[in-house]
Amino acid sequence: MCGIIGYVGKSPALIVLLQGLERLEYRGYDSAGVALIENGRIFVEKKVGKIRELVRSLWGKSLNATVGIGHTRWATHGEPCEINAHPHTDTTGEIAVVHNGIIENYRELKEKLQAQGIEFKSQTDTEVIAHLISKHYRGDLLSAVMEIMPMLKGSYAFAVITSKEPYRIVGVRNGNPLVVGIGEGENFLASDIPAILPFTRHIIPISDGEIVDLRVDGVDIYDAEGNRLVKDVISVPWDIISAEKGGFKHFMLKEIFEQPRTVGDTIKGYISRDYILPFKLREFRRIILLACGTSYHAGLVGSYWISKYLQVPVEVMYASEFRYADIPVDDRDLVIAISQSGETADTRYSALSAKERGATVISLVNVMGSALDRESDYTLYTHAGPEIGVAATKTFTSQLAVLYSLSVSQLPNRDEYMEKLSAVPNMMEEVLGNAENVKKVALKYTNKKNMLYLGRYLSYPVALEGALKLKEISYIHAEGYPAGEMKHGPIALIDENMPVVVVAPKDRVYEKTLSNIEEVLTRKGIVISVGFAGDERLKSMSKDFIGIPSVDEDLSPFLTVIPLQLFAYYIADHLGLDVDQPRNLAKTVTVE
Ligand code: F6R
Repeated sequence: MCGIIGYVGKSPALIVLLQGLERLEYRGYDSAGVALIENGRIFVEKKVGKIRELVRSLWGKSLNATVGIGHTRWATHGEPCEINAHPHTDTTGEIAVVHNGIIENYRELKEKLQAQGIEFKSQTDTEVIAHLISKHYRGDLLSAVMEIMPMLKGSYAFAVITSKEPYRIVGVRNGNPLVVGIGEGENFLASDIPAILPFTRHIIPISDGEIVDLRVDGVDIYDAEGNRLVKDVISVPWDIISAEKGGFKHFMLKEIFEQPRTVGDTIKGYISRDYILPFKLREFRRIILLACGTSYHAGLVGSYWISKYLQVPVEVMYASEFRYADIPVDDRDLVIAISQSGETADTRYSALSAKERGATVISLVNVMGSALDRESDYTLYTHAGPEIGVAATKTFTSQLAVLYSLSVSQLPNRDEYMEKLSAVPNMMEEVLGNAENVKKVALKYTNKKNMLYLGRYLSYPVALEGALKLKEISYIHAEGYPAGEMKHGPIALIDENMPVVVVAPKDRVYEKTLSNIEEVLTRKGIVISVGFAGDERLKSMSKDFIGIPSVDEDLSPFLTVIPLQLFAYYIADHLGLDVDQPRNLAKTVTVE
């Protein structure tokens, strides 16, 4: 995944780069580095570990460069070590590159370069870019980059500087995200908008195949044939406060607590009829929801709403599975691609393949200008603001708000449903008011090695999401299961050491879920339940009970998921783990 940043301006570049890298750290955090044009030469510093290690090693060094690039790495090719950390330089040390993505044909390119006598220092795919640019450089960095682009296979975004032209950065996007930030007498390049939000809100999203020439006095963008493009500058409504922790210990906790507001903001975007799509959703023969991870769980919840309200056959698939399965798709199908980042490779490419076959594609993204936003026929935004914690929380509930609004959007009594939905943020507030109680419950289970999460109907995807949250931030093994499926296998796991988290609001399957709890109790499992406050029956069957306000069954996922997010958070925090940046994960997954 990795994050890249570049700065050209009049201020010390290092400060901008380090601040930006801290905001990009969620994209990868096993090593980091910067390259600056300092007194006419390339100065490189890189360190294994988080950005703070890099900051420490730069401490006290007087660096006044006003042009530079930086990188935070999530290793794909080559173990995390200083040599493999970016930036990578050519043999002369006059060219430095930072890269996000994978150069698939790097072995072949490397062998050719080695045969010409070039010695490689690292095991990375990136180093080939530095050497190729060096070989093709004849006084103009932009031309050299344009020449080598057709040689590179794979998906990538990179930025390059040379000490021979100490006033410019050239950047390329081909499959991995890249945005340009426009300032006054300074310009920026980054993998993601929050990295440059402290400096500017004026953004130009870069599309695949485009090349950026970034200078102090301006920015030019070209297509792969070298034609200069005229691109719109968008003003991002997010402000820097929303990208700060605001007094919370972690971004994840802040983002969990932000949900009443972010769901409220999202609903506001859909409350009027203006967003209504120019086609009848019911006229499609099928609606396919494609997504990964948490977004997939939102899709699962949405599929129940779509079936119920639209009465259209619906399928939900992991995007990574859809792309390589022989699923017949044509212009009678509507695809909804859900991705908070809008950059997830699996989701993008599966949506593109459906689009090529004639399907109409709606994307549901949180990042304006992201690849999916641009590649889909229609976009529905989740107005959740920047999500920095790697574990998705507020984007999940905002995705639910959009999916619900969409499912009811073309019903004659839509306004009634939207009114019900509008009451959700206040109820979410009430759930959050009970956070201390969730913490008390969570702290009893910090020594467990396994947990099972169960739910039926709309609570089934919530159980999956609860289990995902727990495993990704606490590293405790957790399985989410449809409660009715437990007896078909996982029941064998239940004994007096197994906590079973059951999501059991009073809905159409409430009685059935209670029967499943009986099955757990018979095997001496420890039941932790989430249900309606005052539900004495459920409470009496549970070792620990977390109450939420009574809510219409369709809207229950907005509320039931919050205690599960908090439960995972408090366990991981108690274990002293890096909640915002869990090991091995990255916020935006741009590899397949
Ligand atoms: C889980 C999580 C991941 C993402 C998944 C898809 O907390 O964050 O599972 O949900 O990588 O990401 P997006 O929504 O950006 O496509």
